[in-house]
Amino acid sequence: MALAKLMQEAGETFTKIFGHQPDYYSSAPGRVNLIGEHIDYCDGLVLPAAIDRYIVIAFRKTDSLKGEICMHSAGNMTEIPLDVELITSEPEWANYVRGIIDGFHNIGYHDIPGFQAYIHSNLPRSSGLSSTSALECCTAHMVEQLIGVQLDKTLKAILCQRAEHSFAGVPCGIMNPYVTIFSKQDHLISLDCRDISSSYVPFPTDELALIVANTKKYHHLNDGSYASRRRQVDDTLSLLEKESWRDVTMTELEARQDDISHLAYKRSRHVIAEIERSKIALAAWTERDYDHVGQLMNASHQSLQHDYEATCYELDVMANIAQTIGHEGGVLGSKMTGGGFGGSTITLVQKDSVRHVMEEIYDKYRIATHQTPMIFCPSIVAGSLTTPAAEV
Ligand code: GLA
Repeated sequence: MALAKLMQEAGETFTKIFGHQPDYYSSAPGRVNLIGEHIDYCDGLVLPAAIDRYIVIAFRKTDSLKGEICMHSAGNMTEIPLDVELITSEPEWANYVRGIIDGFHNIGYHDIPGFQAYIHSNLPRSSGLSSTSALECCTAHMVEQLIGVQLDKTLKAILCQRAEHSFAGVPCGIMNPYVTIFSKQDHLISLDCRDISSSYVPFPTDELALIVANTKKYHHLNDGSYASRRRQVDDTLSLLEKESWRDVTMTELEARQDDISHLAYKRSRHVIAEIERSKIALAAWTERDYDHVGQLMNASHQSLQHDYEATCYELDVMANIAQTIGHEGGVLGSKMTGGGFGGSTITLVQKDSVRHVMEEIYDKYRIATHQTPMIFCPSIVAGSLTTPAAEV
């Protein structure tokens, strides 16, 4: 199993670096989102699932007042002092770890013991698959183990979300940490971001499959484009004098069209329509009307492309290739997944068409963009956890 192999590899490197074996491994999966994009921070409904690509941390408690931490792809060792107030600093990746430690300090856990840790991963970074949230959740599990507490899972998700806000500068919603922590094997999560309530929705693995297509156009959500979208919709909501996007109808928006800019109108149109699409998609999924879900995914991509302008050339090409294969070729629907501006698409396919669809997307994307994509068919897995080294 991929996770066990990753843990073993992490343990071997940990032992080489620190001269002894780790005591524990924490692990956290990445995610895809079928529908409900850019509405988790608008009280919307989302339909994500965790996938079998992970961040793993091998770690051990020490007697020092610092965390010594090393990341597989980043080279050098970093030290994080545990007895001072933390601020953002170099290297950038360590801010996700600092943000979580700071979060524990803020809820009253000031005495976090020293540790040695090695971070390993097979989850592509900056690819719309939520690697930053996985790193945060994985770190949160490590800190829980170090101090010997188990936080309420929703509180843990909120702590991870706050770390992303204050230490990575991305004013994200709750979706990513929530699905990373709560996910269940072979289930989607229907999450209502308004009251943070959720239910599990079975994924029919005998009938359907998911394909992730990474455009290899990388994007860092902290460059301002994500924050500017959020600001635009927050400002428009205030202007409409509403408490929540869940209370705004398309008719109400249209009635106020002259009071807001065309850009704000388009952004708002995406939010209202995407909330509606998610509701309909969930009902259709429950009725096993997967064709309808696929059509809504296609419509979601259109709206993200034209109204929210959160896609990019590569994502549009990738989604278009899958959508053009269409029902005849086994594709039900395709859209960008995650924050966008680069990253990956998620495609819903008939199970017996997976191989053929993967090959066709790969070939056509290479021809269209002269780039080599990364394409895989993920399994839906359970959420983040901590495993004693003796069990690996
Ligand atoms: C990023 C954010 C999420 C969500 C998605 C878009 O992944 O971290 O909170 O807003 O973008 O749906």
